[in-house]
Amino acid sequence: MTDKVIVINHPLVQHKLTLMRRAETSTAKFRSLLTEISMLLAYEVTRDLPIKHEPIKTPLASMHAPILAPEKKLVIVPIMRAGQGILDGMLQLMPSARVGHIGLYRDPTTLIPVEYYFKMPHDTEERDMLVVDPMVATGNSAVAAVQRLKETRPKSLKLICLLAAPEGITNFHEQHPDVPIYTAAIDEGLDEHGYIIPGLGDAGDRLFGTR
Ligand code: URA
Repeated sequence: MTDKVIVINHPLVQHKLTLMRRAETSTAKFRSLLTEISMLLAYEVTRDLPIKHEPIKTPLASMHAPILAPEKKLVIVPIMRAGQGILDGMLQLMPSARVGHIGLYRDPTTLIPVEYYFKMPHDTEERDMLVVDPMVATGNSAVAAVQRLKETRPKSLKLICLLAAPEGITNFHEQHPDVPIYTAAIDEGLDEHGYIIPGLGDAGDRLFGTR
């Protein structure tokens, strides 16, 4: 693996991920765990945010205190639909971030990803972009989404997921070697249907209770 793959192996992340993987975990619990993990992922992914110092007064004294540089602007882009599960947790830590949405489906005959939804803030050129999708399996939708998002010329791009398959990471970095992947774990591989093994099943279905 290259230094463009960052595995967030914090014990709290790993513990919560195990709870999410369990087949018996309910939809409500799965959802709340994903929100909690998303906050922890957001914490790691924003480690390099620049800060500056500004003069403030505490009740007792004056000081120069660190604060996020206001010119550093973020946009979070969930890949629909499972990516939406990561949004709440991220927004709790970064309430001023803007949100864009991208929806893609694979045409069953041509297998080409087709865009069905695309809505971004107008000023993506001034923003660092965090693309979120819980599962990077084949990597095809992440590849297509990032390709499309690059057209909006964000200042930088990061891909954040919960689980990645080695095949998906390789595929993604063949197309986008410049974009780092942050993940909570790298699993064994894919089954014949493109599901991550051992994985956690269909993230969208588990999140929204659709199966
Ligand atoms: N998408 C999912 O939701 N789960 C997988 O295992 C692979 C892709």
